[in-house]
Amino acid sequence: MTETPRFTPTRRAVAAALAGFVPAARLLAAPAANTPRPGFLWGTAISGHQSEGNNVHSDAWFLENLEPTAFEDASGDACDSYHRYGEDLDIAASLDLNCYRFGIEWSRIEPEPGRFSIAALDHYKHVLEGCHRRGLLPMVTFNHFTVPLWFADRGGYEVADGADLFARFAERTTAALGPLIGMATTFNEANILLLRKALPRFATDAGAARARNMIETARRRRSAPAFSSYLFADPDRVDPILRDAHAKAYQAIKAGPGDFPVGLTLSMQQIDGVGPNAAQIQAGVEAMIYGEWIDAARHSDFVGVQTYSRLRFNDDGLMPAPEGAELTAMGYEYYPAAVGATLRYAARHIDKPVYLTETGIGTDDDRRRIAFIDATLNELRRCIADGIDVKGYIYWSLLDNFEWTRGYAPHFGLVAVDRHNFARTPKPSARHFGAIARRAHGGRP
Ligand code: BGC
Repeated sequence: MTETPRFTPTRRAVAAALAGFVPAARLLAAPAANTPRPGFLWGTAISGHQSEGNNVHSDAWFLENLEPTAFEDASGDACDSYHRYGEDLDIAASLDLNCYRFGIEWSRIEPEPGRFSIAALDHYKHVLEGCHRRGLLPMVTFNHFTVPLWFADRGGYEVADGADLFARFAERTTAALGPLIGMATTFNEANILLLRKALPRFATDAGAARARNMIETARRRRSAPAFSSYLFADPDRVDPILRDAHAKAYQAIKAGPGDFPVGLTLSMQQIDGVGPNAAQIQAGVEAMIYGEWIDAARHSDFVGVQTYSRLRFNDDGLMPAPEGAELTAMGYEYYPAAVGATLRYAARHIDKPVYLTETGIGTDDDRRRIAFIDATLNELRRCIADGIDVKGYIYWSLLDNFEWTRGYAPHFGLVAVDRHNFARTPKPSARHFGAIARRAHGGRP
């Protein structure tokens, strides 16, 4: 169990408290998180919207319940982790993990523009304290895809001052929670829209048409012509504003209180060029999907690599998976070697500590999950043997949870969740992953 060191509030924290954001007494009572980080992080990841349930002030909630919608299910109660987070933390601790990556929900903390909820901040304070009590280093994602509905109404990250509003949220949240945070990332998969742009199939298929329809309907229903929901937004308009938002939020979080590394995570799939122009194709696609985010990562404290598969491109664009290849429940290729390729890419291009902040497999066959975990481990070992300083392996996900437009069908969890009574049942893969972490004892694989 983590010792609870004393917390000396900074001038900024006291100023924030005096301004009425957080009662000073609470700040003074808050334990600090500035405990030494374990040598290697063994953890699981989860996001707010996908697990908490009833995230009713978010853009995603509105869109899921719209007619027409691009979502196969509405998130509803999700895993009810907003109330059952203690059980989730107990499971993570029982697996001998030392890190818990989770997201905080902006729309709970700031349900109306400029109105910050002390109760919501308190909730996350309890989650953070729960992590420390169980020896789990909390890695906090400030924005995992969802935004407040009011923010979507005014144009989301497609309007320039969206960056300032995100930075303000980051500042207020840090004022309340900073001393308890172990590590933080601003955006989850900051380049996800660039990746979508590189996959032309997404832009032409029925799913894209459904999404366009949904957003048009949202604009009418909300009387908000600028309505922009991050996952469905225009990549070219969002990308520069998101980089500005990352830079400003990074500054706001680093200003404290609290002293912890702040980074970002990137969606990094292995890119294979095919055909006589393979090398140029690969370089071109990589340039397209990472854009200027490699540089943004270089100016952060660390980068989180998130890898699920590989993508093959020839001169005509994205190719289907090779004939006979095993596909996961998401329809893409089972290809754990992508983990090694992307960790190498990150290490080669970004001279900052590298964490594997997400990888996992959607499957109903838990034996394939165990195989995927073992294959990931081998990739990590090879990278480390080659001198790459990978600092953590965080599995997506602790729980079977809400898989965005795919609803509840794909199962990524180490732990099954009963959709009627929320009972959690660890799968054999959970015990497998836990046994690996236990053997490593906070060290490298
Ligand atoms: C996202 C998660 C998602 C996972 C599996 C990642 O891109 O960060 O929110 O559930 O992939 O698809």
